[in-house]
Amino acid sequence: MTSVEAAADWPFIPGSGPLIVDGDGAWLIRDDGQRILDAAGGAIVTNIGHGRAEVAEAIAKASRGNTFVVPTWRTKERDALAARLRERWLPEGLHHLHFTCGGSEGIEAAVKIALLHAAAKGETRRLKVMSRVLSYHGTTIAMAGLSGHQSRKRGLEGFLQRFPTVPTPWPLRCPLGAHHPDAGAYYVRATREAIEAEGPDTVAALVVEPMTGSSGGAIVPPDDYLPGIRALCDEFGILMISDEVMTGFGRTGAKFGVDHWDVTPDILVGGKGLAGGYAPITGVYASREVAEPMIENGYEVMFHTFAALPSACAAADAVLTILERENLVERAKVLGERLSDQLHARLGQHPNVAEIRGKGLLQALEIVRDRDTLEPFALEERITNRIVSHGLKHGVFFYPGGTGVVRDIVCLGPPLISNEAEIDLMAEVLDRSIREVLG
Ligand SMILES: Cc1ncc(COP(=O)(O)O)c(C=O)c1O
Repeated sequence: MTSVEAAADWPFIPGSGPLIVDGDGAWLIRDDGQRILDAAGGAIVTNIGHGRAEVAEAIAKASRGNTFVVPTWRTKERDALAARLRERWLPEGLHHLHFTCGGSEGIEAAVKIALLHAAAKGETRRLKVMSRVLSYHGTTIAMAGLSGHQSRKRGLEGFLQRFPTVPTPWPLRCPLGAHHPDAGAYYVRATREAIEAEGPDTVAALVVEPMTGSSGGAIVPPDDYLPGIRALCDEFGILMISDEVMTGFGRTGAKFGVDHWDVTPDILVGGKGLAGGYAPITGVYASREVAEPMIENGYEVMFHTFAALPSACAAADAVLTILERENLVERAKVLGERLSDQLHARLGQHPNVAEIRGKGLLQALEIVRDRDTLEPFALEERITNRIVSHGLKHGVFFYPGGTGVVRDIVCLGPPLISNEAEIDLMAEVLDRSIREVLG
């Protein structure tokens, strides 16, 4: 089917991807029976693998009783999920919870909470929210504006709100030189300058991904960067929002991305991996210091009707139970090292691979025309899409990253339950696909 034919079928989601009828662990199964190894976890979502009966049963059980209650009421499924999150998962201090369906809504709720917090404290000048030049925070009108993702703004540029930005730490392309020892300090200083140019007392929040996800391709910041950003936010009274929609719940080999740098944000948002693709649920987690002025002043964050459905909470609780029981956060770390080693051994010297980077099972390759100058390929060459197509031809799905400006990023985000042979196969097929496209 051509993409025009597919678009005629379903105009708002053009595409001619395969028809999937089943799933089994790290594998997706097509209608013709062909198996596809899901090296992307869908959109870096699937963590406990496909087809886990235990989660399906938890959803069924929850749906047999109270299928819906207005979100201002409690359910035992939501109470259980909240208790598990507080006791076993969330960074200390992030006690207040708000659930949404998708990640875009979650980041938007975090932004709303930051603005309400400022209003509740009487800090009426704090009306700005800053984000990073290269980032993705979602697809609602507000979040498309907040995101530093050019191709996902296409056609909307005239309408979208413009948010003030700070640089995204990108050690490979640091203006001081690739992986310069002062890169962290450089990016923190540049962030300070951007905040000072806006007026620190006009800024309510700064939104950062601890590792830049698919927009930049698993960019790991210098070690002193996030602690530096935390200190800056404290100095200026700005709330730090950590977007962990992609990096949360074990994906990077730690519970949350910020844990790698021992930083606690004021608000953290975790979506995708929370229910591992079994239900649409995202959590927004805030500290008492953030929530209390709002509570005292009667400011509320309006709920989404379908957020925290009993079935979605039960799914998330079952997924977290499996992550704990199977020790999958640690497994993401160990498998991530194996994947990274394999990719480096196979592709580390390839003339078009600028960098292989990531943590845990969030890894990416940045592909360039010239490895010395880091000159990218022309957009029209569609290098990423061609590599992903070749992968699919060989039965492995990789995730196309990049923003249109930052292009040719191939991401891997496989299920954390993948076995060693599957991880090795991902590296082998990516190697083969890159060589078929680029030589
Ligand atoms: C870092 C990040 N934030 C926000 C989102 C938006 O989440 P959703 O697609 O569930 O709305 C995504 C989705 O890819 C993401 O990776």
